[in-house]
Amino acid sequence: MCGIVGYIGTKKASPILINGLIRLEYRGYDSAGISTIEQNGLSIMKDKGRVKNLYNLDGIDNLKGTIGIAHTRWATHGKPSKENSHPHMDNSKTFSVVHNGIIENYNELRNFLLDNGYTFYSQTDTEVIPNLVHYYYKKETGSNQAKFLNAFKKACNDLNGSFAIEIICKDCPDIMIVTRKDSPLVIGKGENENYISSDIPAILSFTRNFYLLNDLEIAVLSRDNIDFYDKDLNAIQKNAEIIGWNALSAEKDGYEDFMLKEIYEQPTAIRETIGAKLSENSKCEFSELNITRDYLLNLNKIYIVACGTAMHAGLAGKNVIEKLCKIPTEVDIASEFRYREPLVDEKTLCIFISQSGETADTIAALKLCKKKGAKTLAISNVIGSSITREADFSIYTHAGPEIAVASTKAYTSQVILITLLAIYFAEILDISNSEIKKLKKDILELPKKIEETLKLSEVVKNFSKEVYQEKDMFFLGRGIDETVAKEGSLKLKEISYIHAESYPAGELKHGPIALIENGITVISIMTDKKLVEKTVSNIQEVITRGAKTLVVTNQNIKEDMFDMTIKIPETNTFISPILSIIPLQLFSYYISKEKGLDVDKPRNLAKSVTVE
Ligand code: M6R
Repeated sequence: MCGIVGYIGTKKASPILINGLIRLEYRGYDSAGISTIEQNGLSIMKDKGRVKNLYNLDGIDNLKGTIGIAHTRWATHGKPSKENSHPHMDNSKTFSVVHNGIIENYNELRNFLLDNGYTFYSQTDTEVIPNLVHYYYKKETGSNQAKFLNAFKKACNDLNGSFAIEIICKDCPDIMIVTRKDSPLVIGKGENENYISSDIPAILSFTRNFYLLNDLEIAVLSRDNIDFYDKDLNAIQKNAEIIGWNALSAEKDGYEDFMLKEIYEQPTAIRETIGAKLSENSKCEFSELNITRDYLLNLNKIYIVACGTAMHAGLAGKNVIEKLCKIPTEVDIASEFRYREPLVDEKTLCIFISQSGETADTIAALKLCKKKGAKTLAISNVIGSSITREADFSIYTHAGPEIAVASTKAYTSQVILITLLAIYFAEILDISNSEIKKLKKDILELPKKIEETLKLSEVVKNFSKEVYQEKDMFFLGRGIDETVAKEGSLKLKEISYIHAESYPAGELKHGPIALIENGITVISIMTDKKLVEKTVSNIQEVITRGAKTLVVTNQNIKEDMFDMTIKIPETNTFISPILSIIPLQLFSYYISKEKGLDVDKPRNLAKSVTVE
């Protein structure tokens, strides 16, 4: 979704801002713009289309300002156009603003401002912000800086909705003000310069010291200082978080695309996520959690809530938690859950999975569960992300920055982390059996098996070349393999734009088999020994009807039945999704490449879905 960048320092701001926007491109956008403070006042350069188009705008090379704000817009209010692109100024051209999120009461504010003589030039909700600040600024007394801060605070008090806002003022060329509510924003501290970004990777090459704002906190950035305030402008203290990721982890590092790089980073991501939590002969350890046996014994259920791929990781979590810990576990899509009047109370543990930690629906679902008295546990890949700041407990996948819109290493890291969590719960409950012992051993062997699975890349690539022009594909599986079918089908849709459906293999006969006709591609996953024969007979039914079949399996099956069999290493069924998804990730990747599509930034999608 929208991205924001800001810079205040001693260097020319415009190239830094544009560079920052390029690094945020993966979030998804349709227009871009920057605003700097120049000798003669505020300058704004913006247009619809790609960030690099900004380099072609007249006058962009003449900008000299050392303070500026920048934005990539993903249209919500008003079509993608130059007028609707950010930054937006107030009528007197005193303030320039960029904004992520949605101002829900913008109509009301717009009417109020129209009644007070203001004019609007765009259809955006954002344009009310600079004008509202100006409205209050005129009424303030004192230094320009004090007037600016007070007016900004008053304007923010009038806003409903979600927002991350950056604002500069032509009368105050030495400060920039920012705030946020339910929308991501990080502050990077440098030497005589400070940065703003929607996320950490965009400014990792400049600093590893980050400040995070809680909802409605305000930061005033100057070149060598950052002051923090609560929503009533009481000064507050904050400590910087030192981020362990390095700049290289946010670069392609020789790979053609981020997605391919991230697929190949999975052995490391899994090793890092396991970290010191697990060893074969001692109990699984989550020192950051404070969960007791009594608490677990008294639970009525566990809810796992997430969106998209993270929800698919939740399905793998349900399988392992229910089987190892015998605690009833439900998985729900956050956008559904929050309006479902879910049966959650103080005896429910609610787990929220989000790579970015900024997904609006997942955060809203978490807040709802908190209100209902449940304990909340966040699983995220981003330290200090909104979801981790809202939750009672947080645990982290250590996948490193995931830049490609299609999630790969975050998914497999989420599956391993929730499996470790299930073992941790089981051991607190004094459940110790050969199954858990075996699972621990299998987890520790997993990174090597991922490396082996990645070697199948060429085989997958060849099959992709045969089928990349297809219009529809089916993904089938039973049990845990059906959750992988779901994820494989989502990956394919996202980046290849091929229509894909996933089904429990046994459900085929109840409707979808009507769609099977000569030449259609059916992909099936078979890793569960107990279910493999059943799935094979379902696949036989589609073969009879002329389907082309790809099978991903770790079982000894009669391979010559199928057009292509991808044999992955055998592992524990609880963690088999981590291996069986890899050929499917590669399959989607190579199909997308074959079709000449933008793998990392598929159309209409955003990496971080920060609006409902
Ligand atoms: O950041 P999150 O994990 O909360 O994101 C959830 C989904 O938006 C995300 O997994 C989405 O489905 C991906 N594009 C899948 O590849």
